[in-house]
Formats: sequence, structure tokens, C-alpha cells
Amino acid sequence: MNTGNDIPKEFMITETIDQKTYLVNGELKTWNGNTTDVYSTISSTPDYKHTHLGSVPDMGEPEALDALDAALKAYDQGQGVWPTMKVKDRIACMEQFVAKMEEKREIIVKLLMWEIGKSLADSGKEFDRTVEYIYDTIEEYKDLDRNSAKFQKHQGVYAHIRRGPLGVVLCLGPYNYPLNETFALLIPAIIMGNTTIFKPAKHGVLLITPLLEAFQSCFPKGVVNILFGRGRAVAAPIMKTGKVDVLALIGNSKSANALQDQHPKSNRLRLVLGLEAKNPAIILPDADLDLTVSEVIAGTTSFNGQRCTALKIVYVHEDIKDEFLKRFSTQIDALKFGNPWEEGVKLTPLPEPGKPTYIQELLDDAQAKGASVQNEKGGQQSDNYIWPAVVYPVNKEMRVYQEEQFGPIVPVVSFTDIAQPLDDMAESNYGQQVSLFGKDVYTLSPLIDTLANLVCRVNLNSSCQRGPDVYPFTGRKDSAQATLSVHDALRSFSIRTFVAFKDNDLNNETIEQLLDAKVSNFLSTDYIL
Ligand code: G3H
Repeated sequence: MNTGNDIPKEFMITETIDQKTYLVNGELKTWNGNTTDVYSTISSTPDYKHTHLGSVPDMGEPEALDALDAALKAYDQGQGVWPTMKVKDRIACMEQFVAKMEEKREIIVKLLMWEIGKSLADSGKEFDRTVEYIYDTIEEYKDLDRNSAKFQKHQGVYAHIRRGPLGVVLCLGPYNYPLNETFALLIPAIIMGNTTIFKPAKHGVLLITPLLEAFQSCFPKGVVNILFGRGRAVAAPIMKTGKVDVLALIGNSKSANALQDQHPKSNRLRLVLGLEAKNPAIILPDADLDLTVSEVIAGTTSFNGQRCTALKIVYVHEDIKDEFLKRFSTQIDALKFGNPWEEGVKLTPLPEPGKPTYIQELLDDAQAKGASVQNEKGGQQSDNYIWPAVVYPVNKEMRVYQEEQFGPIVPVVSFTDIAQPLDDMAESNYGQQVSLFGKDVYTLSPLIDTLANLVCRVNLNSSCQRGPDVYPFTGRKDSAQATLSVHDALRSFSIRTFVAFKDNDLNNETIEQLLDAKVSNFLSTDYIL
């Protein structure tokens, strides 16, 4: 594990970022109040100690309500500059923003590594994937708009149907994808004409600061408002006013439920939520073990299992259980642990200082209830890590079965009757994805048919994942509300709204004049190229 002098020069922390401004109503306001220090669990010195990265404002209710006020004014009951702007002009603002964002790749990638411990390769991927998401969103919106640039006529009534904004969106992202997941909410929300208040996650907060100026200069005032602080202190007072139209949150269902409950007008509030999951791998007796082991390794250990789509429980058929456990355990122990910039690194420091202790508790509980650790290194702790433990046999009494571990521990259950994993999934509070490993089509077919009704993505001989981002990302039960994909997100942050008129001379003439005058941004058949 390298520290101090071993850190490549370009990745060293040479100065701290002390964020003194926040974005409200188009102004980068200076913050003179309390601040919260930001530390990395990665050490910069040979003697292990957290690295001080900087600080962010610790805001409260008054600033939160100012931001809400700015978003409400910018929406201006649907009359604001942004919600009434021509689609092509909104797209131009977004193009300007993404160009400015691309200039910040280096610093954002560096901060992703230090703040959340994501490997250099994955941090780069997170940045590039987000930029691509924005460009794809722009193209998709053009397409959506082109498809709306027309009139329909049924039963003597003409209609000009478009998608309109919903209002004020409160946007909260998670620490594991502080850029990508957050922007996968924020960008479609903005482009559809909503006005927004955005609070970065607890970890991965400094990496948003290089973008404040771009948000300020590319969008009209009040369209994007950025706050810092704890969710309880800033999100709760905003929700209590009942003036938020959409809660967009990727995180856990407890915080989502608590925030929804604070909103006094439940029918006004729309929800776009990506929540927790306990995606299973189901390994059938005829599975190709080489492929299966490598996919289950990727599914359970990518970013140390800190992904909502991670494989969080493995069901393996009794007939191949021993061979699977042997190969899987050996390969887990062969993974390379190190700092994010190290060549070939697969396991990296955990950003939450308390995570190793939590994982150890799950392990102790499972061991006390009859499971044992299958791999030699499983559970070994270092300053900021705990080695992924392959735990078998796991049963329903164990916390590691019940909880979304979101970290390095792999519970394994063996089965002889396929009804067992299916019943467990039906009983579970979650329903995001599953990975199914096997070859025989007559066994796979009925399983696929059932699994598709229990979750929202059945991955065949492949680990679970969100991407490619053009595919629908959603879940059943406590795993999600609404659907996100480049296309679906535009729908989730908007509503169909239209102008209708009966077919008669007066109306037809009026509409012709309206179109010729080109003064309505809504009623327009202009075609964006
Ligand atoms: O945390 C959940 C993310 O949506 C997972 O995305 O499958 O691309 O890692 P991913």
C-alpha cells in the first residue's frame, strides 16, 4: 500500500479546497458560517492518518429556504424564462454547460479517487459516462421534441401534445456515484424545464465544487441552486413547505420515506427514486463455472460492493457448490488491494470510516449463527479496509442475509430446489435485478419468465449493472420509483400537456396565425435538427 512519497505527483493533495461559496439565485454567495471538514480515508503519510482534503459550508434552514425561493421564482408558476424557453435554447444552455464540464475532468477524477476511493480507471469511466449521458440526453430530447412537432386529430378535435416541466425538483445523489448518479437525475430534470435545488452527497462533495461556475454561467438565475450541508438540515425544511414538485433521490428507502413524509401534499409530490437492492446471483448446476466465477467476482467486488446493482447474495446449486466456493474464494484472495491510482488495483479504501466495523459485525453475526469464512484473507482488516469475506452457509436469521451490506462481504446460500431462491426473492423487500447462470434453455426459459416478474432486469450469465445508460434502470418494491434511462428520465421529469381545439374555421385560422407569428414556444411545429 503506497503512502506519502509513493503517491504519483499528479495525484498528490498539494492544497486543500475550502469551499466558501454556494449557488443560489444565479449568485455565487459567500458563506461565512460553520464549515465541515472533508477527509479522505486514504493516507498521504507513511504513518496512517486520514488526509484533510478541505471543507464545505454547513448550511441550515435559512439558506435552504432561500434556495427554494430562488427555484420557485425561476419557475414563476410556469411563467419563468426557463420553463417557457424554446427547447432549442434550453439545449444550447446544456451544450454550453457540458463543454465547460469537460474542462474539469482532471480535478474531478482526482477528487473521485480521494473522496470515495474509486480506482483511477473507474473514476475516469464515471466522468466520461456522465458526459456521454449529457450528450445522449440532448439528442434524445431533440428526438422527443421532433416527435411532438405535429398535430393529431381524433373525433373532430385537434391536439398539439408535448411534454412540459413539473416544477421545482429537489435532487439528492448518493456517495458511490456522486457525479454520475446525481447528474443522471439533475440533467434531465433541468433540460425538461424544471428548476432545481441540488445537495451533493456526504462523500464526494468537493468534486462538485469545480462545476459551480459552469452551472452559474450556463443557466438563467435560479434554475440550478446548489447547497451544502446535511440532508436533515437542508432537505427537510424544503420538503416541509410542501412546495417541491419532485423528489429525485438515489439513496436508501429510509431517507426517501422520511423526506416524503415531511411533504404535506402527497399528491403534488412526484417521486423519482433509485433505492437499495439485494440482487441475487442464481447459479444452476450446468453453469459455465469459469465465466460464472468471473462475473460473480465483478458483481460482488466492483467498487468494493458499494453499488446498488452489486450482487449481494449468491445462491449456488448444491451440486457445484464446493467447486464454486473453491474457485471463487481463490480468485477473491488474488484481487489486488491498493490506493485508487495503483496499476491493476481492484479493491480500494472504503470512504466511510465506520464501514470495516459494520462489515465485521455482519461477519461476527453470521459466524455466531453457523457460517464460516471460506477464503483465507476474508475479514482481514487494515486501516481503511476489510477484505471481502466469502461467507457460507448463510441463512435467513443472519444480518448479512437481511441487510443491504453495501460493502465487501459475500453471503453464499446453497440450494437444491430452485423454488428456494424464487420464494426468497418474492418475499424480499427489493426487486431490482438478478443474475442467472446456466445453459439449458428448457431450464432457463420458465425461470426467465418468472424472474422478469420479480425484478426489472434479468442478466443472463452476466453480472448485474445499470449500464448501458440507454437501458431502463428501475426496480420493484423498495428498490425504485419511476424509471431512469436516457429516454425514460426525460419522461420521468415531465408530464404530457397539450393544446386542444375543435375543428372549425375560427380555430383553424387562429392556429394558423399562431404558428405563423412564431410567438408561442409551446405551440410550434419548428423542427430541431
Ligand atoms: O449504485 C448503483 C448504480 O446505479 C450502479 O451502476 O451498475 O453502472 O455500477 P452500475
